[in-house]
Amino acid sequence: MALNIVIGTQWGDEGKGRVVDLLAAEADYVARYNGGDNAGHTVTVGDKTFKLHLIPSGVIHPHTTGVIGNGVVINPRVLLKEIETTRAAGVEITPERLRISHAAHIITPAHLALDAAREQARGEGKIGTTLRGIGPAYNHKTARGGLRMEAMLDLEEFAEGFKAHVEMVNEQLTLLYRAEPLDAQAITEQYLGYAHELTPYIGNTSIRLNQALRQGANVLAEGAQGTLLDLDHGTYPYVTSSTPTASGALVGLGLGASHVGRVIGVTKAFQTRVGEGPFPTEVFGETAERLRGTGDKPWDEFGTTTGRPRRVGWLDSVLLRYAAQINGITELTITKLDVLSGLENLYICTAYRKDRQTYSDLPLGPTDLDYEPEYEELPGWEEDIMGLRKWEDLPQTAQAYLRRIEAIAGVPIRLVSVGPERDQVIEVE
Ligand code: IMP
Repeated sequence: MALNIVIGTQWGDEGKGRVVDLLAAEADYVARYNGGDNAGHTVTVGDKTFKLHLIPSGVIHPHTTGVIGNGVVINPRVLLKEIETTRAAGVEITPERLRISHAAHIITPAHLALDAAREQARGEGKIGTTLRGIGPAYNHKTARGGLRMEAMLDLEEFAEGFKAHVEMVNEQLTLLYRAEPLDAQAITEQYLGYAHELTPYIGNTSIRLNQALRQGANVLAEGAQGTLLDLDHGTYPYVTSSTPTASGALVGLGLGASHVGRVIGVTKAFQTRVGEGPFPTEVFGETAERLRGTGDKPWDEFGTTTGRPRRVGWLDSVLLRYAAQINGITELTITKLDVLSGLENLYICTAYRKDRQTYSDLPLGPTDLDYEPEYEELPGWEEDIMGLRKWEDLPQTAQAYLRRIEAIAGVPIRLVSVGPERDQVIEVE
C-alpha cells in the first residue's frame, strides 16, 4: 500500500474531483495538500452533485478519512459552511472522519481584503485571482507571520494573535492601498466562535498518515489547481501561491518520498484556463462556445468557485509533456472526451514556433509562452460516446486521438471519462 497522488496537468479544472472519487473507493485516507477554497471539485453521484472547495472530495465514500494537510490554507468560515452543507447532503462529517493539520494556515477576512486591494492595484497586470485571500495567506506563511490552525487550541492566545493580525493588515490596507479598514474586534469575536467549533478536528496529521502508511494503509493525495498554476513551475506570475505538483503532496502532508506509488496525471481532452495569463492554443468564436458549453450543465466550462466562463483551447502536448516530467507522472486519465464528439477535426499542439525556429520543448519553461503553436490535425467523430464503457467500442478516430496523446506525453492512459457520472468511464488496458 502506498501514497498515490492525483494531480492536474493543466491550469486546474481537469476533473480531478471525479477521478479522486473513483480512486477513493480503494483508499483509507484522502488528503488535500495544497491551495484553499480557490479550488472547486465537482463530483456527481446519482442525482446529487457535490461542489467541494476544502473538504477532500474522496470523503463522499463513507469508509475514508479525510485529511486537510499542512500545505493547505483554510478559511474557517468557508470550511464550517462546507461541513454543514456536506452533512445536509447526507455525508457524515465528524472530527473522527475529517482531520485538519495543526500546521495548516488560516485565511482571514484581512487576507481577502488584501487580495482584492492588490488585484485592484495591479490594474492591467492583474492576475485574475479567485479573491479568496490565497496569495496573502501564503505570503504571511512564508514571511513567518501567519496564523496556524494550532493557534485555535488556546482560545485566549488565538484571540490576541488574531486581533493583532487584523490590526497589522489594517495599516497596510489604509496606508498602502487607501482601502477601508476592517473591524478588528468584531472579526476576532466571529473567528473565536469558528475556532471553538473547529478545535476537535485539529491534530498532527503528518504523524497520523505516516503511521497509517507504515501499517499498510492506502493514502490518496488530492491535488488542487494544476501543474501550470504551480508557484515555481507554472506560468509565473500568473500562478497560484502553492505547489499543486506531485512533490507538493510530500511537503503539504509531511510525508517522505519513499511512500509514493502512482502519480496520476489528470488531463482534460482539450485545454481550459480561468484568469489571466498566456494560453498559446486558446480558441475563440464558435469552436470556443462549443467546447465551453452554455453553463446549463454543472460540468460546462464555468468556474466552480467564481462562476467565471473559462477560456478554452486545443490540447497542448508541449505543456503536457512538461507536466509529465515535472510531476513524474506514471499514468494519465483523460477527462471530458465526450465534449469533443461532433467536431469534424481535432487539433493537438505538438510544437511551438518563433523566428522560424521550431521548439518541441520549452526553452525557459512555461513562464515564456510567447510562441505560435504548431498543430497536428486529426479527424473527429460524430457518435455520442457517453454510453460507451469499453475501449473497443470507441470510434477508431477517438482511439487514435487518445493513442496520439499517449505517444506524445510518453505516459500510458489508464482511464478515460466520457460523462460526468461515476460510471461513465472507460478503463484502458
Ligand atoms: P489564486 O489562487 O486565487 O491566487 O488565483 C491565482 C490564479 O490561479 C488565477 O488565475 C486563478 O483563476 C487560478 N486558480 C486558482 N485556483 C484555481 C482552480 O481551482 N482552478 C482553476 N484556476 C484556479
